[in-house]
Amino acid sequence: MKQFLAVASMLFSTAIWATDDAARARVDYALNCQGCHLARGEGFAGKVPRMTDFVGYYMHSEDGRAFLIQVPGVALSPLNDADTARLMNWMLTEFSAAQLPADYRPYTVDEVAALRRQPENDPNRRRAEVLAKISRQLR
Ligand code: HEC
Repeated sequence: MKQFLAVASMLFSTAIWATDDAARARVDYALNCQGCHLARGEGFAGKVPRMTDFVGYYMHSEDGRAFLIQVPGVALSPLNDADTARLMNWMLTEFSAAQLPADYRPYTVDEVAALRRQPENDPNRRRAEVLAKISRQLR
């Protein structure tokens, strides 16, 4: 019984922590990103890229993985590295779980910290290159 309670309380606190993490990411998204990318990540065609059913494709390559953190809206946001990692990992599964690769690994805080030190200054060109490579790979 004691053991059962210990396991039950561990599972329960993990569930609370997970919800809390998602709730924090959701608020960070609403305050920092939603103005441009919209509530469900739908974006504005031709102006702001959509996240919905799309952003997960980038995780099929290391370049894509880096690009998502180096894009100015992410690299230069006022969020710290830990908040950014949490937000990106939430966005990927919330908006685009079906596009993630089978070997998907969430971002670590250290990875975000290192990547955002080199923001991309030509995101449209880089985006096109990264996506061309991924689409060849997925064909
Ligand atoms: C002022 C509007 C604006 C805000 C605010 C903004 N973005 Fe963006 N985002 C863009 C635009 C425009 C692009 C296309 C690349 C570029 O021009 O920088 C983009 C590109 C991206 C990309 C690359 C995906 C792709 O397909 O190009 C990601 C990921 C992203 N934004 C996430 C975020 C996150 C997360 C936040 C909040 C921390 C955020 N953005 C805030 C406008 C914005």
